Amino acid sequence: MKIPKPLVEIVATGRYLPERVLTNRDLEKMVDTTDQWIVERTGIRERRLAEPEMLAAEMGARAACQAMERAGLHPGEVDLLVGATATPDRWLPSTACDMQAILGTKNAAAFDIQAACTAFIYAVTVAEGFLAAGRAEIALVVCTEKMSSITDWEDRSTCVLFGDGAGAAVLRRSANSRGILSSYLRSDGRLGDLLYRPAGGVKIPLDHKVLDEKGHLMKMEGREVFKAAVRSMAEACDVALQRAGLRAEDIDLLIPHQANMRIIEATAKYAGLPMAKVYVNVDRYGNMSSATLPVALDEALEQGRIRPGSHVLMVAFGAGFTWGSLVLRC
Ligand code: ACO
Repeated sequence: MKIPKPLVEIVATGRYLPERVLTNRDLEKMVDTTDQWIVERTGIRERRLAEPEMLAAEMGARAACQAMERAGLHPGEVDLLVGATATPDRWLPSTACDMQAILGTKNAAAFDIQAACTAFIYAVTVAEGFLAAGRAEIALVVCTEKMSSITDWEDRSTCVLFGDGAGAAVLRRSANSRGILSSYLRSDGRLGDLLYRPAGGVKIPLDHKVLDEKGHLMKMEGREVFKAAVRSMAEACDVALQRAGLRAEDIDLLIPHQANMRIIEATAKYAGLPMAKVYVNVDRYGNMSSATLPVALDEALEQGRIRPGSHVLMVAFGAGFTWGSLVLRC
């Protein structure tokens, strides 16, 4: 099959992770759980927590600064800033605009994408469209999540799973054979109530009752989400590979969304890739929603797991439900 010519490439990445570590042992003191249960069911050993005063926009800006510095960019050169978060600091304006103010990217159009854990794939694909169409020259994608702020710390079925962090990528039109070879985006809004925050929006505005009943915090039907995640990520791997004109054996590194080690292993198995070719950091960070993929990409580049010419398959799944995938030639 013919391999498409990439129009847009990721030229640099960056990440920010809060210093504070919350281990499974720490969680044992907070809810009725054990390190053994968490490790066996999820693969997570610890996660990072932002300090209370740390804002999602600030975390994102730190990751973005690193990516811009590595790309050798002045903030004024960025003309598109696509933000992604499920944990905005405030409802208006967008977190992207708040990040723009911190970064000084004054020539950019800034807006947010909401696609939960799949948002990096969505945001990169949107930025790719702007760049490929000549509507922007340099795009900054920034995913930032303060998941600790929407976590019910008394609910053992969710609080062990999530962590805070931010990741960023700089994109521009490709002048070589490197870049995005394919992407695939899907969603199914009928499944929204399997992973959601019931209240705090227009439908059920915040009041004392909502706060007392924790209606503003994240609720999840874990088992249903698990099944859908395995199914959707498998499909997304297939489609992205097919659209890229590649086979599993052409992939040098699979970077799957890091929600649960069992989902990662099932995805790798389905895709026909050995675990040696799969990037894993869920043990150290848990699920950082949209920030998961750019943080993993940044780490994989830093560790030399991705080299010039490597083919990378990224795949994610999240609330919505949303799912999607990308194939990159690096
Ligand atoms: N410690 C100890 N026991 C627990 C814990 C815990 N932290 N959490 C749940 N349990 C118990 C349950 O109460 C249940 O007990 P019961 O049998 O007495 O009722 C038992 O463990 C089994 O619970 P299940 O929910 O069936 O456990 P499962 O094996 O499905 O694992 C998990 C739960 C880890 C949540 C899994 O379903 C999962 O990872 N789901 C996917 C989650 C996910 O990917 N979410 C993110 C999506 S991305 C986004 O957009 C944010």
